[in-house]
Amino acid sequence: ARVDKAGYKHFMAKEIAEQPTVLADALSAYLDGDRIEIPATALDFTKVDRLVLVACGTAYYACLTAKYWFEKLARLPVEVDVASEFRYREPPVLPGTVALFVSQSGETADTLAALRYCRDKADSIVSVVNVETSSIARESDLALPIHAGVEIGVASTKAFTCQLNVLLLLAIKAASERGHMDAADKAALLTQLRALPGLFNATLDRDGTMEAAAQKIAEARDVLFLGRGLMYPIAYEGALKLKEISYIHAEAYASGELKHGPIALIDKTVPVIVMAPHDGLFDKTVSNMQEVMARGGKICLVTDARGAAEAGEGVWQVITLPEVDDRLAPLLYALPAQLLAYHAAVAKGTDVDQPRNLAKSVTVE
Ligand code: G6P
Repeated sequence: ARVDKAGYKHFMAKEIAEQPTVLADALSAYLDGDRIEIPATALDFTKVDRLVLVACGTAYYACLTAKYWFEKLARLPVEVDVASEFRYREPPVLPGTVALFVSQSGETADTLAALRYCRDKADSIVSVVNVETSSIARESDLALPIHAGVEIGVASTKAFTCQLNVLLLLAIKAASERGHMDAADKAALLTQLRALPGLFNATLDRDGTMEAAAQKIAEARDVLFLGRGLMYPIAYEGALKLKEISYIHAEAYASGELKHGPIALIDKTVPVIVMAPHDGLFDKTVSNMQEVMARGGKICLVTDARGAAEAGEGVWQVITLPEVDDRLAPLLYALPAQLLAYHAAVAKGTDVDQPRNLAKSVTVE
């Protein structure tokens, strides 16, 4: 089927905007009441000792997020690597390992090579893909579709949130099978997850504040993104999006690493985008933020109403998102990461859907 822009200026804008619907559909494809429909025959988490997650680009940041989920919710040790390093490092893959590959296209050469490396070593090969007929899907013991629909914009958006969705469902399944999440906790979390498309809509309704912030960010030469815990991978994804389509140099750091180097870069010309819902790590992130402000740095704080009330004062820009369950925050905070980059790119007049030097799918090394 031919896909058009449906009245949007860019495919990327359309793909960002369709996330509430796409996520709701993707969820219903996997949930039957509180049952997560992933065949246990192919993936029995009671028999898994560890996971190895491998991917490239945006899919890699989905894996980095999933590490936090699998470890925290399911107490399952996870190793994560970019495919180009993993395949040549020739790491030992011990019995009891499930190797999981995440790829929108299912054709990324490095990811496919990493999968083949694991073929006779891992207990099973699982993939999380958008294209169900792809090489990576075909060569997996179990291929889990993300149901994002066709993604045209080179910078991945809805595929990222849909990858996170499947990875989170896997982590919840692992947590409950391994006895770390009881039925009531699971039901409560799934209820929150079903409400997430509504929060996506509420976030998209606040697009104006993100556009305003992005117009100022577009004037910068360098931008830093900070986050802790589940927000650390989202900081990376925000920096990647900004680099990809606006060509502004952006770097992400774990908030706690700021003092070990990047703080030297801070001055009034470097916007620092802080991803910080009011969660258990909020106070720590705020103190990192204050270290930046004390050095004249300009903070763009992406938080919720409680966070804005507690730490919004004196901050350059505040983007306030709806309150969300801590564990689901990466999905929601992906949206401002995408929208800031999108509006900055539009302000700079770049080719948003076809950024220079990039390809949607990299099928050669
Ligand atoms: C390319 C694309 C990225 C994508 C990455 C991995 O670099 O430009 O947007 O994240 O490949 O692609 P995959 O299809 O494996 O998810």
